[in-house]
Amino acid sequence: MNILLLGSGGREHAIAWKLSQSPKLTKLFIAPGNPGTASVGVNLNINILDFEAIKQSVIDNAIDLVFVGPEEPLVKGIHDSFLADQRVMHIPVIGPTKVGAQLEGSKDFAKAFMIRHSIPTAAYKSFVTGQGHEAKQFLTQLKPPYVLKADGLAAGKGVVISTDINEANNTIDEFFDGKFGEASKKVVIEEFLKGIELSVFVLTDGKSYVILPEAKDYKRIGDGDTGLNTGGMGAVSPVPFADKAFMQKVEERVIAPTIKGLAKDGIDYKGIIFIGLMNDNGNPSVIEYNVRMGDPETEVVIPRIENDLVELFDLTGQGRLSECKIRISNQVATAVILVSGGYPENYEKGKIIKGLNDVRDVIAFHAGTKYVNGDIITSGGRVLALTGLSQTADESLLKAYTAAKLVQYEGKYYRTDIGKDLKPYI
Ligand code: AMP
Ligand code: GLY
Repeated sequence: MNILLLGSGGREHAIAWKLSQSPKLTKLFIAPGNPGTASVGVNLNINILDFEAIKQSVIDNAIDLVFVGPEEPLVKGIHDSFLADQRVMHIPVIGPTKVGAQLEGSKDFAKAFMIRHSIPTAAYKSFVTGQGHEAKQFLTQLKPPYVLKADGLAAGKGVVISTDINEANNTIDEFFDGKFGEASKKVVIEEFLKGIELSVFVLTDGKSYVILPEAKDYKRIGDGDTGLNTGGMGAVSPVPFADKAFMQKVEERVIAPTIKGLAKDGIDYKGIIFIGLMNDNGNPSVIEYNVRMGDPETEVVIPRIENDLVELFDLTGQGRLSECKIRISNQVATAVILVSGGYPENYEKGKIIKGLNDVRDVIAFHAGTKYVNGDIITSGGRVLALTGLSQTADESLLKAYTAAKLVQYEGKYYRTDIGKDLKPYI
């Protein structure tokens, strides 16, 4: 079959890499893609928010299935746009419709969904512009740290955690003053959850589901989880503290009620549900839902899936996922992200990347790279994800870090402690 994959990050290179290994694949197109996806498919220069151009390209290229990588087209209704167009309404889009995408697009919607379906999550209250006084009053009833969230998509910057009540009050003012436009005109204030975080990924056709490998990502720029938040500096899978007993609780208390809840609410959901979880002394609590795969988690999750990914997506599109049993490799995957110097603040682009052909024993997934005159140059904050796979955590780390040293470009930076915090659990 012919597949169109939307997106251009390390996540999409990892998905494209896996799809391209399937005997069921005829042609793979990626829009807009990157030099990594170009090595396993055909990149199309189309904006992922230009739904008309995407639909036209689906017709022109005889696409049989569309997989949506990032959240923005889903929250803006790409799936609905297909369903409303007679020419392409029969083409499966893997990714929820607008209403299902609200699980990520509106924190208030997600919290109300969890409460309605008895899914464990932090206690909360929502406030809208004009309710600043009430919001601040609510803060006085909570113990610090205070957790404040802009309701809508805010490019990963919409969550503020503060131990200082004055700072929290100022954040409320800033949000209501429109710091993130419409996205922060509503604010969710919630209880702080203790524990250690992990990411759980579920593929569902709305009735059945398969649980993909879990992962842990490293969001802060500096070693020891210090400094500014980033899109993600590394990831590991499996997560040693996510043992059988814990994952069983996750399935019973979170995954099954989420799938049942969507059906009960009349939401036909075909796609990925990414559950950000806190493990508090062996008990799971949901921090957030996303309606897509994580990045860089995908770069460690995908290499551990042994099934044919085209078949998994095809069965999802047809509503026949119950026919499939997921097979997961017991290898450990570690991804180290190479970033541009200065990221996540200002950084320079256009640095020539050398040494990529010398790396061995890793999968080098492209994120922010570009081809110019035969050279591969940096074109984003997160540049490459280097994934090592091995029977042991130590060896997978060694593979990723050996490659991280070999790749060269001006300003290269990476964290040196990915996976170290998990050693006590191994
Ligand atoms: P989000 O943008 O929803 O992924 O939130 C960003 C990060 O804030 C999460 O990955 C958590 O580390 C943290 N966080 C969010 N909500 C809570 C909470 N209720 N308690 C503790 N940490 C939280
Ligand atoms: N790595 C976190 C995310 O993709 O949201």
